[in-house]
Amino acid sequence: MLEAGCGIGAQTAILARSSPGARLVSMDISRQSLLSARRSLRSIKSRADHFLQADIFHLPFSPESYDHVFLCFVLEHLPDPGAALKSLMGLLKPGGTMTCIEGDHGSCFFHPRSREALGAWDCLVQVQAGMKGDSLIGRRLYPLMAAAGLKDVAVSPRMVYSDASRPHFMEGFVRRTIIPMVEGVEGQALEAGMMDRASWEQGIRDLHLTARPPEGTFCYTFFKGVGIKE
Ligand SMILES: C[S@@+](CC[C@H](N)C(=O)[O-])C[C@H]1O[C@@H](n2cnc3c(N)ncnc32)[C@H](O)[C@@H]1O
Repeated sequence: MLEAGCGIGAQTAILARSSPGARLVSMDISRQSLLSARRSLRSIKSRADHFLQADIFHLPFSPESYDHVFLCFVLEHLPDPGAALKSLMGLLKPGGTMTCIEGDHGSCFFHPRSREALGAWDCLVQVQAGMKGDSLIGRRLYPLMAAAGLKDVAVSPRMVYSDASRPHFMEGFVRRTIIPMVEGVEGQALEAGMMDRASWEQGIRDLHLTARPPEGTFCYTFFKGVGIKE
């Protein structure tokens, strides 16, 4: 199995645990991330011991050498996700399968809702677009996978919903994942004049309210696509 764009190994750990019999190769373009992945994976007993630095667009593998290719939150960062999928398709054996998981920032809604919070969220979408990515890629997963030549493509939306009755989602998903992701584009958003500083800071404060009981709620949809190479 090939995991393309493994980052610091968050999914690698899950893959290794759920498929202990598989031979797993995980690659990423970032040396730094691979170092972290190796370190964190050392603590779990797994066969995910093969990490490789490589570019999805220039893959150092033999054609048709993998049974399964797995990607999670990678296509959204690429300038040409269609070309990346075609490149990965070449590595699959006939009958092999591919799994792609992506988010879609347009699928997000929350309470309480303010102009500034929506503005800060939109900065995230715009900054990613400026970096030649597409944070609205979840809705494109089916056409992208089908155009790459995969057959029997099936895409399922996976909604994550958080409110005060689900404190682990409020903490783990909204406060520790979603809000830091928005905060991460502060420099680029302000520099590009997408918002003024006061509105930005208000927006971030308001987003924190969506993860605060008893009022806060947050909803986001991920998309998981699977397909087969004939
Ligand atoms: C948001 S992270 C996702 C990491 C991991 N899949 C996860 O779900 O936690 C996106 C990863 O894609 C990697 N990436 C971006 N462009 C790449 C390329 N051209 N080739 C290989 N990896 C790439 C980045 O270095 C980053 O680690």
